[in-house]
Amino acid sequence: MCNQNGFTLWFTGLSGAGKSTISEIVSEELRRRGLLVEVLDGDVVRTHLSKGLGFSKEDRDTNIRRIGWVCEILSRNGVAAIGAAISPYREIRDEIRGRIERFVEVYVECSIEKLTERDVKGLYQKALNGEIKHFTGVSDPYEPPLTPEVICHTDGRETPEQSAAKVLAKLEAMQYIPAT
Ligand code: ADX
Repeated sequence: MCNQNGFTLWFTGLSGAGKSTISEIVSEELRRRGLLVEVLDGDVVRTHLSKGLGFSKEDRDTNIRRIGWVCEILSRNGVAAIGAAISPYREIRDEIRGRIERFVEVYVECSIEKLTERDVKGLYQKALNGEIKHFTGVSDPYEPPLTPEVICHTDGRETPEQSAAKVLAKLEAMQYIPAT
């Protein structure tokens, strides 16, 4: 018998904005507090559950619906499910929100200028050169959430730890996790 109430924490934002980094810090803290946690990271999910999918709108929607579905069943079973994928389309994110009782959306916001300057994976330069087509934020759309529960500013205004603290504070305020 699990007496934990599950929920889904959904990180959305551009590639390199810090979704994985913040979700890792948050997940470690949640585990430290004794919660059951699973992280579904786009980059990782694309190596198995979504293997073979590309970056057309159709494939992205399929990827996000799969991640959303797993988060839904995990949440229903008492797990703190964390989704971390670009999830560029508002309609699909809202569709998932509509299916999950306890859903918390975190917009990881960073300017395209900053992302291009950092370019951790070297993908922005390739996208700008036209070597990668349909790259989110450069040559493919990203629709920011209109009313996310949390916004993390990762262009230098906040450290990853500060962003994670904002997310944890929101989860406490919503009484999804016990306050320390
Ligand atoms: S999503 O759009 O379906 O939500 P997801 O988060 O799974 O994307 O994967 C994004 C990652 O795929 C990026 O961080 C980047 O490393 C890689 N990638 C490769 N091609 C693209 C592209 N055209 N647009 C965005 N990301 C891409």
